[in-house]
Amino acid sequence: MPSQHSAYVTDIPPGRGALRTARSWLHSDAPSRSLNGLWRFRLSPTVPVAEDFAAGGFDDSGWDSIPVPAHWVLQGDGAYDRPIYTNIQFPFPIDPPYVPDENPTGDYRRHFDIPADWSEAERVLLRFDGVESVFKVWVNGDEIGNAAGSRLAHEFDVTSSVRPGDNVIAVRVHQWSAASYLEDQDQWWLPGIFRDVTVIARPAGGIEDVWLRTGFENGHGRIEAEITADAAAFPVTLCLPELGIERVWATPADVAPFDVDSVEPWSAEQPRLYDVTVSTAAETIAMRVGFRTVEIRGDRFLVNGRRVVFHGMNRHETHPERGRVFDEEHAREDLARMKRFNVNAIRTSHYPPHPRLLDLADELGFWVVLECDLETHGFGTINWAGNPSDDPAWREAYLDRIQRTVERDKNHPSIVIWSLGNESGTGSNLAAMSAWVHARDAGRPVHYEGDYTGEYTDIYSRMYSSVLETEQIGTDGSRSPLLSCTPAQGARQRTKPFLLCEYAHAMGNGPGALDQYEALVHEHPRLHGGFVWEWRDHGILTTAPDGTPYYAYGGDFGEVVHDGNFVMDGMLLSNDVPTPGLHEYKAVAQPVRFTFDGDDVAITNLRHSADTSDLRFRWRVEHDGTLVDSGDMEVPVVAAGESARVPLPRIPLAQDSETWLTIDAVLAAETAWAREGHVIATAQLDRSTRRPAGGVRPQTDWRQSNGTLTLGIAEFVDGALVRLAGRAVAGPRLELFRAPTDNDEAASLRDEESDASIAGVSNAELWRRDGLDRLTTRRVSVERTAEALRTIDKVSAANSALSVMVESVWSLEGGELELRVEIEPSSGWLTVWPRIGIRFDLPDGAAPIDGAEWFGLGPLESYPDSLRAAHTGRFSSTIRDLSVDYARPQETGHRSQLRQLTLTSAGSKVLRIVTFPDGRGRRPGFTLSRHTPQQIAQAGHPFELPDSTTSHLIIDAAQHGLGSRACGPDVWPEFALRPEARTIRLRIAAG
Ligand code: GAL
Repeated sequence: MPSQHSAYVTDIPPGRGALRTARSWLHSDAPSRSLNGLWRFRLSPTVPVAEDFAAGGFDDSGWDSIPVPAHWVLQGDGAYDRPIYTNIQFPFPIDPPYVPDENPTGDYRRHFDIPADWSEAERVLLRFDGVESVFKVWVNGDEIGNAAGSRLAHEFDVTSSVRPGDNVIAVRVHQWSAASYLEDQDQWWLPGIFRDVTVIARPAGGIEDVWLRTGFENGHGRIEAEITADAAAFPVTLCLPELGIERVWATPADVAPFDVDSVEPWSAEQPRLYDVTVSTAAETIAMRVGFRTVEIRGDRFLVNGRRVVFHGMNRHETHPERGRVFDEEHAREDLARMKRFNVNAIRTSHYPPHPRLLDLADELGFWVVLECDLETHGFGTINWAGNPSDDPAWREAYLDRIQRTVERDKNHPSIVIWSLGNESGTGSNLAAMSAWVHARDAGRPVHYEGDYTGEYTDIYSRMYSSVLETEQIGTDGSRSPLLSCTPAQGARQRTKPFLLCEYAHAMGNGPGALDQYEALVHEHPRLHGGFVWEWRDHGILTTAPDGTPYYAYGGDFGEVVHDGNFVMDGMLLSNDVPTPGLHEYKAVAQPVRFTFDGDDVAITNLRHSADTSDLRFRWRVEHDGTLVDSGDMEVPVVAAGESARVPLPRIPLAQDSETWLTIDAVLAAETAWAREGHVIATAQLDRSTRRPAGGVRPQTDWRQSNGTLTLGIAEFVDGALVRLAGRAVAGPRLELFRAPTDNDEAASLRDEESDASIAGVSNAELWRRDGLDRLTTRRVSVERTAEALRTIDKVSAANSALSVMVESVWSLEGGELELRVEIEPSSGWLTVWPRIGIRFDLPDGAAPIDGAEWFGLGPLESYPDSLRAAHTGRFSSTIRDLSVDYARPQETGHRSQLRQLTLTSAGSKVLRIVTFPDGRGRRPGFTLSRHTPQQIAQAGHPFELPDSTTSHLIIDAAQHGLGSRACGPDVWPEFALRPEARTIRLRIAAG
């Protein structure tokens, strides 16, 4: 039973005492004091009954100290409870609006000074920018009020409680509250005062709030000001010095919209901002305005009259040490990184970020979908029974949330869409939120994905719809029904612009098929792109029992219910390292496209409105990856949406090597987010004149001593390879297994596109059932002829009658060792296979293999449905850097379309391998790793991988694609690997 004091914990929000009129987060010259810093802190496992700690004279000398802003669970090395990760599940019983008595409660106290001259202030406000989840405040022992809405700002009027000199503030924060039912986002539950706390002096005659709505049309800007101030505060002056504008409004009635000549518009590409001040005699507000008009015309979403394509990321606020505590420098670098990877849009999933983030978005240039702090997903597990979204008792809470959201951030030109929240079912409270936004802000449309039938929102939005379904949405075909829609509702939805508020689930190794989604956007103008799920992994930095640091995910803190590593689904690893998936994204989203045509190339500018005058075009020619010529290309300035055709440079051809031309579009000058020369877009053209296959006659040169057969650099015992170039080797053995990716492990039910997978059962499960991870070999025959050593193996798994025949033929060709492996599955294999490869194990010996140089696709890993970032060239890497440290170890490191590979040890060449395309021109790929797929599959975190100095080289005839089945479609059939006969042919020489 909550005591009468703490009833607010389970009262349906909003609470009591906070100002209901939310305001913009403004840069004002009115005095304020930050209360960030060290506070006294005590944590109780339940809600304490006594509120004596709130008294001014309370002795808190025995308490700990904790920083504000911070989450208590991330402070004190586990001293204050631990983080909990759940996706949909509520980590407490579904019993709204109640929460368990086991409700961790943090009491905070600190002293602060109020300057003597604040006595002139009309009011003193106390502002909290973020407290999770409900809190109650006292100042000098006076109870001020309570509030909920963790990622929203709350202000209290504390004028009558503060005094000049020393003051004491006490805050009680509860981890769980009725509001927790509205904050069930897929993320860590991180209680505490995690954003700024500020005391603000409001001057008499100040400006309570200001909203500068802007527009842009035909070279003219427009400002429509809304000033919230007492009549006595007037005159109000608006200055835009750069354009010589000064407007003085003597009374509230004088405030009127006005046009501004010759302004440059704001866009995500050219984020032109103008400094503006709005002032009264008592206060000056500094603002940065951007001129732009957002509108929906038919099924097009337009800014300044031009269609927007969102190349977006879902951005959570997450940091491995700070959690959701904002760090401006880190955020700026994060946004700059987005820009460098051709990201032009952010959805603030699923709550308003720290207000400064939007200043950065205005300045660096992003289209922002600003989302309200709302998700009730856990009700979905009980069929939405009791979902607050449709319960009038919660209406005020919903309205309070959206009002706080819109009011705080309304001035930002970067925000082009308001979003009501995420995954909260549907219902009248959501419709009421939408109605409120429509009434308040006619200049921005409303989004909410859960409004499947489009009853109350302006944009048709979906998450994770497959390529096929997305294509159907793009067409007018009334015969393809839309999810959860009647034909009539479907027709209505098709009149609206469409966006994928989430797609391409970036969990672990993946996603595949980014290029397929991208292609649709250019075929069907109704499709406006979307937002990858998601930007960053949410790993929390912690240490293994032996002290090894690692990034924790669900379950690592002993949570009772959790969702494992589903929180590690970002394009960036927890330590800010871009994944290969992000590089793929950059290549797919590149705003400049190249189409080769004979001796010309057409260069197309796909940007929203910026021309290409900020770019330079560089070219280079390589023969087998070695640079032979390079230069700059003369390209006229190409306007947005236009193309230009330019002649290719003269390309020196080579008879005995491959000739590749590469063109890069690079930044001609430094920007706020990248250096001069930063590559925006790349394309390659294969100009190789095919060389005839060498007609060398096979020969053998057997030497035999003490049971060892020597053939060139290879040594065999009983038909088994034991050494290559004097170095111990085991194998080659058939390898059909890969450490399952998160997509391989997922058992999505939505596999309409894949005829290869079985709904409800993961591919990884099928592979384990078939024993691909535990294959055994029976040598059927060893045959030595004058020309070759031929072995035949039958490979199969325990308790299975399925098998694969592997024929290996060793010979010398032109003095070099050649291996040809024919792999032939028996009939009856029903599933897809992860790979068809052969594995060599190279134990450490004196000089372990620690690197590779290769000519093929690189520099990063690539898979059949994720090949766009890879280009043909010559690359080198340490063995360590060939693998990506996915939060849960899994398949990594595959380099496709290999031509030549050199294994190195401390910089010296050890073995050289040349590959041959098979009869259909397909080239193998390779993986070089310290661990076998089986070892990797056993590890839950990178630190669990055993120490190893062995290197495992796998040459794959083929790999299965990646897909995004962890939360979305499986591998597209074209890129699914079915059991099939394959040939691998290699030449192996000493380095
Ligand atoms: C969506 C949800 C996201 C996230 C994602 C899966 O359904 O909106 O918050 O949970 O799935 O990672």
